[in-house]
Amino acid sequence: MLKMFNLAKMLIIFIYLTSICCFYVSSQNVLSRGILSQNISSLNTPPQNTSPQDIWYTYEEPIEGLKRYSTHALSEGILMIWMAFEVKEDPSCMLPYFHLRVIERTGRITYIDLNYTFPPEAVCPVNMIFMPLSYNYIMIIYVRSNNGVKGKYGLIINYDSEIKSEIYLGSVNDHIISSVISEKGFIRIEDHGKRGIAAWHWLSAPDITTGKVVELGSGEFSVPNLLSYTFVNSFNFKLIDGGFGYAYILKYNEMGSSISNDPNIQYWKIYISFLREGTYSPTTPSLVYQTTTKLNSIAFKSCFYNNDGGYICIVSLNNTITNKDQSRTEVNYYQLEFLTTGSFVQFGAVPKVISNADDFDLISLIYGGFLVEKYYTNTTAKNFYILDNNGNYKSGGSFGPEFVHYNMFTRNGTLLGIKEQTGNKLEILLKPLLRLNNYGAEYDNPAIESTKPAIHEFIDSSINEITIKYSIPVRLSTANISIFQLNGDLYEPNLLRQTISGDSKLCTVGSDNHTVHIPIFSSTFNQQNSSYHVVIDNNFVISQERNEPLIGTNEKVWMFSTKPFKTGKHSESITGLLRLNEEGSSKFLQTNQSEFFNNIIQAFSKIIPVDEQRITTNGKWQNDSTFPKQVLLSFTINEAKSAMEPSSKTIFDNLGTLIKRKGFTALSNNEYTSLIDESASFTMTSYFGKFLPLIIIYLISIIILIILYFLARRKNPEGRNMAIFEIALIVQDFAVDLTFTLLRVNNTPHLVIPNMVFLIVPHVVNFLLAINIFLSEVATNPMFYTWFSELPTLLSICTIFSAIDVLAINTLTSNLFGLKVFSAPLSQRSRNIILWGSFINIFAEDIPQLIIQILYFNSVVTYDLIPSLVLISGGLVIMNKLILRSFHMLIRWCHRHDEIIDFNRNRHLSAGSIRSIRSNV
Ligand SMILES: *[C@@H]1O[C@H](CO)[C@@H](O)[C@H](O)[C@H]1NC(C)=O
Ligand SMILES: *[C@@H]1O[C@H](CO)[C@@H](O)[C@H](O)[C@H]1NC(C)=O
Ligand SMILES: *[C@@H]1O[C@H](CO)[C@@H](O)[C@H](O)[C@H]1NC(C)=O
Ligand SMILES: *[C@@H]1O[C@H](CO)[C@@H](O)[C@H](O)[C@H]1NC(C)=O
Ligand SMILES: *[C@@H]1O[C@H](CO)[C@@H](O)[C@H](O)[C@H]1NC(C)=O
Ligand SMILES: *[C@@H]1O[C@H](CO)[C@@H](O)[C@H](O)[C@H]1NC(C)=O
Ligand SMILES: *[C@@H]1O[C@H](CO)[C@@H](O)[C@H](O)[C@H]1NC(C)=O
Repeated sequence: MLKMFNLAKMLIIFIYLTSICCFYVSSQNVLSRGILSQNISSLNTPPQNTSPQDIWYTYEEPIEGLKRYSTHALSEGILMIWMAFEVKEDPSCMLPYFHLRVIERTGRITYIDLNYTFPPEAVCPVNMIFMPLSYNYIMIIYVRSNNGVKGKYGLIINYDSEIKSEIYLGSVNDHIISSVISEKGFIRIEDHGKRGIAAWHWLSAPDITTGKVVELGSGEFSVPNLLSYTFVNSFNFKLIDGGFGYAYILKYNEMGSSISNDPNIQYWKIYISFLREGTYSPTTPSLVYQTTTKLNSIAFKSCFYNNDGGYICIVSLNNTITNKDQSRTEVNYYQLEFLTTGSFVQFGAVPKVISNADDFDLISLIYGGFLVEKYYTNTTAKNFYILDNNGNYKSGGSFGPEFVHYNMFTRNGTLLGIKEQTGNKLEILLKPLLRLNNYGAEYDNPAIESTKPAIHEFIDSSINEITIKYSIPVRLSTANISIFQLNGDLYEPNLLRQTISGDSKLCTVGSDNHTVHIPIFSSTFNQQNSSYHVVIDNNFVISQERNEPLIGTNEKVWMFSTKPFKTGKHSESITGLLRLNEEGSSKFLQTNQSEFFNNIIQAFSKIIPVDEQRITTNGKWQNDSTFPKQVLLSFTINEAKSAMEPSSKTIFDNLGTLIKRKGFTALSNNEYTSLIDESASFTMTSYFGKFLPLIIIYLISIIILIILYFLARRKNPEGRNMAIFEIALIVQDFAVDLTFTLLRVNNTPHLVIPNMVFLIVPHVVNFLLAINIFLSEVATNPMFYTWFSELPTLLSICTIFSAIDVLAINTLTSNLFGLKVFSAPLSQRSRNIILWGSFINIFAEDIPQLIIQILYFNSVVTYDLIPSLVLISGGLVIMNKLILRSFHMLIRWCHRHDEIIDFNRNRHLSAGSIRSIRSNV
């Protein structure tokens, strides 16, 4: 018993020891086997299965019976899942419908269920793919027979499941490849012929409103013409600046078997050519690889952007090695690295430990290093490994056999695995990959160190530049940096504020070679509390060291908001003229002009942006005298109805900036506003013309007054004929105050109440005084009573009129034209009340009103005459009134003085009458 126990114990110890030993030996093996690195053999062991950063989520499909067919992971983090109905009898087929689920980063899902039946040749077997295009457009590319000839067609649909347009995409074998930058559209490359010439057609992104696609350019990729070489195959790949790369594989012609064992003959050559937007002509092919080995074949497996700049292609070399009598064929993988200038960088073997699976993927990660994925035909499980730039193993992970579909968000380095669908549920696992560096993580771009403004900062709308600090020295390149205002609507493109290309001379690189300064137009951040985002296109800058384009930022990454504005000065309507360019002018003259005006107003209201009511036109236009082929159009910016709206001056200035910077703003993207001539500024029309009628009326009334005055003097030289002017002054004063109150004072809310007080109270007081005067006159003055009873309706009119200014009653005593109406016999008491009353009016009404108007004048921006007229006439009225009143006082005083002197002279007046004279004054 004991013996056996000891034996077992020793056995266990033995096994234990040997296992340690073996482990030690095997790790020794590992150490000696590494090609690129010591640790790379860990690529053969399945790494850990889960990690704490993993994210699970479940998608539930609302439509019964739909199954996941495939997925698309967009660089901005959107996952598209294509759902389809299976055909039980034939797994290679699907029912002829299209269902797509668009899952955003926020979790919001858009369901696209197309009401369209595809032809059998598209769905059995499945001959259909989809391609996300710009904005909310998606193109479904499918095969259709037309009169027995099969062709490719693109059905362009939007997120609302609407079919917008359809396009013929050539023969079944044509390659359709979207640009990395969706706004640049996509390319169709025809199958290369025997001699290797492949025609290409560059198609635009869909038009925002119509969804139509047009051809932007076309041409051919043609093989370098080399004697004794024949074209074998080609390969195309995407460039991060939105262009395309095209590789040609050429083989030496041996001309039969007889000749040449010349060791210097290059049997295989690889050339690369680049096609970019703008030139629409491929670069001359450059030789990037050649070999003297007589290989069986060379094939491209994949090409990807290298995070160090340039591109890496994985190529397979099939070689037959003859050893003595034995020969064996082996396939080896290599990485071919080159720059977009066409210069070769390096050619190195992909270690066997990477390629020893049934299939593998090797790509460069944005945050540094490489991702290796290995696939086996006997399982759907997958292992992946992260290597650093030198190929050293850094980390790894795996997806179990329960996962059946994979994808990857390449931009942020996240792998995605989907489990077998159960019912309507899809379980999705996101595995973030190890980042070898985490610079610029906020920007999803390791090249960006920081920006000003920072992400989520609240900025002043008046900033005049933004800056980006890169982690490496950079130079400006040709792509754009654009600022958009977020509109909160997924389906609407965001509002473009400005877009500047790196080589526009407006952008500059600071002296440190790291910081890029981008100017901001005053119209760019013109809305308060609004969110903006800056999109840096790939190839906005290039690295100084390698001259290779750097990647930019996606939408909605570099976001910030404007602070609330202080309410600015109110400003009145402005009318201005803008000039159309020659093309626009001739178009304007040939089309319906009011429609043209309307289209421009609509575009302005969207682009500024401002309510459409704020911009109007009187439809006036004229030829520009200095540029006779061009026309000037007149537009009016109406004044704001409330303090919440931007003032007309702000809108006018914004529009002026937009026009001046037309080439960099959304104005140049609109069919109508692009016809504006940016070399002529939006100028305010002189307002003299507008107010000419007012001035004429004013002058005419003065002339009439003067004529009336002389008529009155001729009729009755004794009358107080100046009363004509007095009355005109009172009327004018009132008219001006009323105009101001009705039309202007509302623009300055803080002045409304004071204005009302100083308008209403004095008039009520005047009205009461007038009633008091008339009543007491009627009661105590028999002469007045007789005068009045002959003209009964007069009293009410006069009472109302004198509410304006009690001084108006004075007119009734003026004896104008010798008319009876103007000869009211007022008592001295009433005259005194009138005199004092009108004096008080000056201080209780006219001066406060003038002060209010001055305050108004200071708090608004004004372009018309009303406020100035109000001020001038207010001042004049007060001066006149003061002079007149003082004159009356003087007369009264002199009068009294004379009477006292007379009394002293005559000395027969009683003391009572002296008292009465005194009290009369
Ligand atoms: C990467 O993008 C996906 C999709 O938007 C997102 O779900 C995931 O959290 C992102 N991962 C990281 C590490 O940011
Ligand atoms: C699908 O389209 C056809 C005609 O194009 C229409 O008659 C039918 O009502 C549509 N069905 C749905 C569900 O919209
Ligand atoms: C390698 O080339 C030989 C000869 O052309 C061919 O028979 C073999 O199938 C090729 N191997 C691979 C893996 O392509
Ligand atoms: C699949 O095949 C690989 C080798 O090709 C092997 O190492 C692995 O164990 C197999 N897995 C299963 C689940 O059979
Ligand atoms: C930059 O923007 C302008 C105006 O929107 C556009 O015409 C041009 O093609 C863009 N350039 C690049 C390189 O994207
Ligand atoms: C910036 O680049 C220029 C030219 O490429 C070079 O002459 C200069 O020394 C660099 N400046 C710094 C601070 O590195
Ligand atoms: C802007 O935001 C501030 C505070 O966040 C708020 O008080 C103000 O009403 C907002 N203004 C507008 C126009 O929304």
